[in-house]
Amino acid sequence: MIGDLAPSATLAVDARAKALKAAGENVVGFGAGEPDFPTPERIVAAAVEACQDPRNHKYTPAGGLPELREAVAAKTLRDSGLEVAANQVLITNGGKHAIANAFATLLDPGDEIIIPAPYWTTYPESAALVGGVPVIVATDEETGFKVTVEKLEAARTAKTKMLLFVSPSNPTGAVYSSTEIDAIGAWAAAHDVWVLADEIYEHLVYAGTDRLSLPAFTPELGDRFVVVNGVAKTYAMTGWRVGWMIAAPDVIAAAANLQSQITSNVSNISQRAALEAVSGDLEAVAMMREAFDRRRLTMHGMLNEIDGVSCLEPMGAFYCFPNVTGLLGRSIRGKIATSSAELAEIAIEEVKVAVVPGEAFGAPGYFRLSYALGDDDLVEGVSRLQRLFADAD
Ligand SMILES: Cc1ncc(COP(=O)(O)O)c(C=O)c1O
Repeated sequence: MIGDLAPSATLAVDARAKALKAAGENVVGFGAGEPDFPTPERIVAAAVEACQDPRNHKYTPAGGLPELREAVAAKTLRDSGLEVAANQVLITNGGKHAIANAFATLLDPGDEIIIPAPYWTTYPESAALVGGVPVIVATDEETGFKVTVEKLEAARTAKTKMLLFVSPSNPTGAVYSSTEIDAIGAWAAAHDVWVLADEIYEHLVYAGTDRLSLPAFTPELGDRFVVVNGVAKTYAMTGWRVGWMIAAPDVIAAAANLQSQITSNVSNISQRAALEAVSGDLEAVAMMREAFDRRRLTMHGMLNEIDGVSCLEPMGAFYCFPNVTGLLGRSIRGKIATSSAELAEIAIEEVKVAVVPGEAFGAPGYFRLSYALGDDDLVEGVSRLQRLFADAD
């Protein structure tokens, strides 16, 4: 089973760009899914202080520091309007680990999980690892890459256990409206379908878009939800590895047992840093959001200037997801790409620009470009793509 697991394509693209850079190449990497900002100083200071405290040198409860679980519950009420108790929070080694724990806890072999595509590359692999059966439902530009109740209903079977719902979305930047959330939540509730709501990009929405948590919006779901979240994107803390899952107390207790046998507690230093992060204000993310918004508009505008490329305006997260099918089958500096994967290969070889091809997200024909990099690098990288693709015959 492990032998069948695909490596994370996004991490692979990022690693390749970093290796080329280390070898002295002038690479612009659009692969990384992480803010280019350092972690805010007050959070780093809390971690430094934590290192000096012997209490943090020892094992702590596998499910997380009690005060962090409390703080996450308080933050969830503040940011999402969802009222949960500390025993409904499990602190995990990043959001990715929360997703794996949720699948392992709730999916029995053969259970189907509906995953709208384009999807974050981890979902189907992680579900399949525990015997879950990913049912991929394609979406496209026509619905702004958002899944509709009609499509969900067409995919539902007697074995449907769960829906994977992510808003804002990686890789498309799509953000669901209240009407759409209402309809999807009502559909899930009516059919006893669990919803795993991935809210890791909750604070990164633009142009007045509302931030909405599906479980908070849909009380009819009762206990049949899991929220996944973490400090990675909101506080520029991808490397600290702190996330969490929120669910009913019995689900959390079972997932905590699992965690106690596999990883034990998340590093106490990182948990103390996360405690400072979630207990504090949202000033740092407001600053990052402003920078991302500017870069979002620049990248979106520049991509649409390329003949053969069309890009919807992303309303959240920090990715553009342009359609590049207009460049396939054309000669680019003597090379012809028949897929977005081949086109991405031409981009890295010819102009040293790293993008993640849509194949990684179950959506061939697209590129994912992160705009979480410096303004100058961003313009330089997209300009290189503009020049390269201007040569397409
Ligand atoms: C949609 C989505 N969910 C969850 C994660 C997990 O983040 P982490 O494991 O770094 O907390 C990511 C990271 O890229 C993501 O894009």
